[in-house]
Amino acid sequence: MKILVIGGTGRLGEPVVRRLVADGHEARVLTRSREIAAERFGGLCEVVAGDVEDRAAVDRALVGCDAVYLSLDGHGDWDLERRGAELVAAAAKEAGLERIGTISGASVCEENTWFPMTRAKFLAERAIRESGVPYTIFRCTMFMELLPSLVRGDKALVMGEQVHPWRFLAAADYARMVSKALALPAAANRTLLIVGPEALTMEQALRTYRRLCAPDAELRHVPFFVLRLLSLFPGRRELRRVGLPIMRYFSKVHEIGSPDEANDLLGAPTTTVDQWCRSRRAFAHAA
Ligand SMILES: NC(=O)c1ccc[n+]([C@@H]2O[C@H](COP(=O)([O-])OP(=O)(O)OC[C@H]3O[C@@H](n4cnc5c(N)ncnc54)[C@H](OP(=O)(O)O)[C@@H]3O)[C@@H](O)[C@H]2O)c1
Repeated sequence: MKILVIGGTGRLGEPVVRRLVADGHEARVLTRSREIAAERFGGLCEVVAGDVEDRAAVDRALVGCDAVYLSLDGHGDWDLERRGAELVAAAAKEAGLERIGTISGASVCEENTWFPMTRAKFLAERAIRESGVPYTIFRCTMFMELLPSLVRGDKALVMGEQVHPWRFLAAADYARMVSKALALPAAANRTLLIVGPEALTMEQALRTYRRLCAPDAELRHVPFFVLRLLSLFPGRRELRRVGLPIMRYFSKVHEIGSPDEANDLLGAPTTTVDQWCRSRRAFAHAA
């Protein structure tokens, strides 16, 4: 298949692009920074310039494609995912695509739409389901790729009360499942919960990451009220607008549903946090 990936330069989008190509698909990436992306992918896939909010650019990018996959993040502009999904769903319908796929979240449900990120994902899912294009929605749990961002300087931070277990997922396992699903007729018109092989609290996962990849970092619990005060300092806009609200949200919600359908159709993820950290450490030593 020829698949347009919107968000293919992202932390979770890039592994999908690489896996699609490894599996024999053709990938095209839509990005606002064409030159940077072209250098990153080095000829592995086609890279086209455009914004997901520009209908003409999306229409051009879809020419010749069989499917489109969305992996957007507005970094505080939570609603971008809804706007992007609505525009791409309409364009995909008009272009007669065989499949539209998107990443979503494991806690997405109507009850959790009080949080703007979840509301945007919930409405993005709805636009995709109602597009009339065969769809696959991947409701993903916490990714292991989040762990490095919790180490700041010499501290590994558990932000607030994070008591719920999450079945942490490796982006490489996820990319394999997306690549398989987009070409699999049986995965059409499904909303799939995607989770990793073992349930861990944020602290347990971070302890493993710290032990194997950041041994000099000290594990610290930082209560929400302290984070709130810290976020008021200059230069902490990202913490105030994105990091803190997301961590508060994760302290209140949990994974919803069963991963059985996804695992039966696509093969279950196998990478544990321990294995992921070991391979990351080996890669860092080799580099
Ligand atoms: N972290 C987790 O554990 C987790 C779990 C479940 C779901 N998710 C979701 O996964 C999604 C992707 O996350 P990520 O970490 O990969 O994000 P990321 O690294 O910040 O990447 C965001 C992507 O969005 C693209 N983008 C942003 N605005 C755009 C626009 N106006 N037009 C076109 N492209 C635009 C960027 O492309 P350019 O900058 O190249 O244009 C970039 O490729 C998010 O929705 C996140 O909520 C994350």
